[in-house]
Amino acid sequence: MTTVRSGAATPGALHLPAPAHYNHAMQRVQAFEFNDQPWLPGVLHESITEILSRGVRWSGVFAGMAPVLRRVFERVGSDRVLDLCSGAGEPISVLLDTLAAQGGTLPEVMMSDLFPNRAALARVAARYPGRVSFAPAPVDATRVPAELSRPVRTFINALHHFPPALVSAILADAVQSRSAIVILESFPRHLPTALRFLPALTAALLVNPLRAPRRRAAKAALTYLVPVIPAIGLFDFLVSVARTHQREELEALGRGLGADYDWEHGELAYPLGGRATFFHGVPRPR
Ligand SMILES: C[S@@+](CC[C@H](N)C(=O)[O-])C[C@H]1O[C@@H](n2cnc3c(N)ncnc32)[C@H](O)[C@@H]1O
Repeated sequence: MTTVRSGAATPGALHLPAPAHYNHAMQRVQAFEFNDQPWLPGVLHESITEILSRGVRWSGVFAGMAPVLRRVFERVGSDRVLDLCSGAGEPISVLLDTLAAQGGTLPEVMMSDLFPNRAALARVAARYPGRVSFAPAPVDATRVPAELSRPVRTFINALHHFPPALVSAILADAVQSRSAIVILESFPRHLPTALRFLPALTAALLVNPLRAPRRRAAKAALTYLVPVIPAIGLFDFLVSVARTHQREELEALGRGLGADYDWEHGELAYPLGGRATFFHGVPRPR
């Protein structure tokens, strides 16, 4: 039997049940984001990724996540993690730094992506010698090869990119391999709450041309003179909010898998009134 819980089922986690008014907030929209488009010029794609990465770090969005993750490791009996849709690897790095700041050993993580950005992933892996690596070949989150599967899968700030049918395939693949799956998003599909993420993102946007590792002049021009990067960034932010999967939708997908799994959804408070969301499925011991 599958159980689905919301709220404070994980002991020690400072998480909150989602307010009931989210249920009526907005319909999910499967619109496009500029940053997903292969034709987007490299300087824009790079800028948005850098801004998002710094925004995630500065917002403290995963501050409450350590106890939730540690509890999953405890229940599964392993902290070997396959991170899916790792992108440039920064979101998992922020999560690892949050875990490190709160003490204890770091999990052993393998980052992966369907289009692996090997240079960026290698740079992130080098920060955690012996603990973090990456899969150099493409890994499809809906069909993870058995040899790469790990007892825990993570999915950070990426699930909103996928329509429900693919989310279902992603969950089903984890269930089929009896891996736990932990999904994090920086905000719920509720604009007033999601806007609490914007101050960190705006600060990251404004400093990016000064801190970017390369193409600073172009990034400055496209931020301060002709504000293409702010326009694209704001568009993608609003689309991300509209595409985020709500608690009820995820719970229904988890329930539909009919496996021997416990599913749990919750929210984690972060500074300035933000609320990150998590959804995890953990196999019951047989
Ligand atoms: C917007 S990024 C999110 C990445 C990262 N979590 C972040 O916030 O930077 C979405 C990532 O999912 C990857 N992706 C898209 N479809 C995928 C699939 N079926 N399996 C694995 N990764 C996929 C893309 O290549 C991209 O790097």
